[in-house]
Amino acid sequence: MNEFFTLTQIDQIATLIRARSSAQPKVVIILGSGLGALAEAVEGATLIPYQELPYWPVSTVQGHQGRLVLGQLEGKDVMIMQGRAHYYEGYSIAQIGLPVRVSQRLGAGTLIVTNAAGAVNPDFTPGDLMLITDHLNLIGMAGLNPLRGPNLDPLGPRFPDMSQAYDREIGDLARRIAKEKGIKLQEGVYACLAGPSFETPADLRFLHGIGVDAVGMSTVPEVTVARHGGQRALGISGISNKANLDGNTVTTHEEVLEAGEIIVPKLASLIREVLQQLPSD
Ligand code: HPA
Repeated sequence: MNEFFTLTQIDQIATLIRARSSAQPKVVIILGSGLGALAEAVEGATLIPYQELPYWPVSTVQGHQGRLVLGQLEGKDVMIMQGRAHYYEGYSIAQIGLPVRVSQRLGAGTLIVTNAAGAVNPDFTPGDLMLITDHLNLIGMAGLNPLRGPNLDPLGPRFPDMSQAYDREIGDLARRIAKEKGIKLQEGVYACLAGPSFETPADLRFLHGIGVDAVGMSTVPEVTVARHGGQRALGISGISNKANLDGNTVTTHEEVLEAGEIIVPKLASLIREVLQQLPSD
């Protein structure tokens, strides 16, 4: 397992992708659990199974297709990750951040990241979308930061600023579009736990107490790498279940995938319009 990656390794993957597709992705989109359908709409699509790319973390979880889709969506060149790998699958935390680093070498200036998340905020209902306004890097605080190891200076600084992890301008755009389309868009703080076990009621009371609105097992490493490399980030959680604050609710992966079916059409419509109106960088 690679603890760190060199620029040469990252560029090796970027070169392989360039040899397969002429798309010049300006936007990289990561589609989380049960949310892969948006990739079907890509025009002139080149599909690259993750297994064909060296070092690339392959998703082993049901609901994650595990391939890169390059092409055009809403007139923009995009690179879509249809499914992602998680730390709990056994990869190093650096490996979870690797695809975002590759997207930076391919020229993508914006990351749009989605996930399935549990509602910690009692006002949220399964099926809701949540604009991530900030995150709580719990796994990073515990040492699992994808930037650990030698800094890659050509990509970004040793100590990157995280005061605006989620881009305010793109967040405002998402809010406006959701309003115009009549899509309810909750907002809040997302916390990333390592997983794969879901939270105990005590975990959830703790998260609630420290200001978390939604909890999941992804996104934060990718956004950390994105900000290191100067990418702007938009994060949207699909709320798939009520968190088990009272100890009387059981959370299952099936439930997460089922909620995806309600979430996908709203999420796809929102992301497509954001793409269309995205300011060019
Ligand atoms: N907890 C953690 N991760 C999740 C959840 C949850 O309740 N739902 C979807 N991903």
